[in-house]
Amino acid sequence: MTEGVNPAPLPRHVGIIMDGNGRWARAHGLPREEGHERGSDSVRTVVRAARRIGVPALTLFAFSSQNWDRPPEEVFRLMELLRRFLIQERSEILDNGIRLITVGDTERLPPHVREPLVELMAASAHNEGMVLCLALSYGGREMIAKACREMCQAAQAGTLDPSEVSVETVESYLPSSKLLPQLDLLIRTSGEHRISNFFLWETAYAELYFTEKMWPEFTEEDLVSALHDFAQRERRFGRTSDQLEDEVLPAGRSVAGMD
Ligand code: IPE
Ligand code: IPE
Ligand code: MG
Repeated sequence: MTEGVNPAPLPRHVGIIMDGNGRWARAHGLPREEGHERGSDSVRTVVRAARRIGVPALTLFAFSSQNWDRPPEEVFRLMELLRRFLIQERSEILDNGIRLITVGDTERLPPHVREPLVELMAASAHNEGMVLCLALSYGGREMIAKACREMCQAAQAGTLDPSEVSVETVESYLPSSKLLPQLDLLIRTSGEHRISNFFLWETAYAELYFTEKMWPEFTEEDLVSALHDFAQRERRFGRTSDQLEDEVLPAGRSVAGMD
């Protein structure tokens, strides 16, 4: 790093919509499950790279509320892969100071997945290296609906004044706000330009990065490219460029380790 030059700002929290496993498999004449298999190799690579670079928090959209509607054999296969990931990556997660958390309706996961998940979350709870959040059985609209439900219940119980409900109040009912830093960068692979019910509230001011690469093809270099792209963006949060020069806006930590 050149002395006196600020290193590129690093996002505090990166979210990834890991898409394209099925299309990758089809393009290679393989069954969809082979795509998911290769996709879980990309998960390993990206978690390792994010940790090395110093990204404080990484959320991987691994299974959406809507993915339960896929053919039962595919859901079964995805659950098996998730279980295997939790067992095989346990020591690497613990050795590298990674704290594993989840967002989503994890009660819906089968017990053979929930057990290693709960165990690893507890075992890694005091780690401070990087937060790895798995979005499992996760839907952004479902999360917002749940927050609304809980706010209505609190209002009914007299512990929340409806006229006082603010952005901060809503955030206090969203698990992502309690567990994770602000989402700064959202990456989606596979060339699709949509959010697919991921972090709806959280993407309000996130920078969006789309790549044509299918998830099984996504490498450490692709992550670094996305981080470099992020570092070039001017985040105005509704203000003008001129204002930014006079103000310090909420920005991520600066780390040079991604070169
Ligand atoms: C992402 O790949 C994995 C999950 C959604 C669980 P897909 O399975 O959606 O792959 P495509 O989009 O069909 O190619
Ligand atoms: C989004 O991908 C969900 C995950 C990556 C877990 P999908 O493949 O389910 O999204 P759509 O169907 O293309 O919108
Ligand atoms: Mg898909």
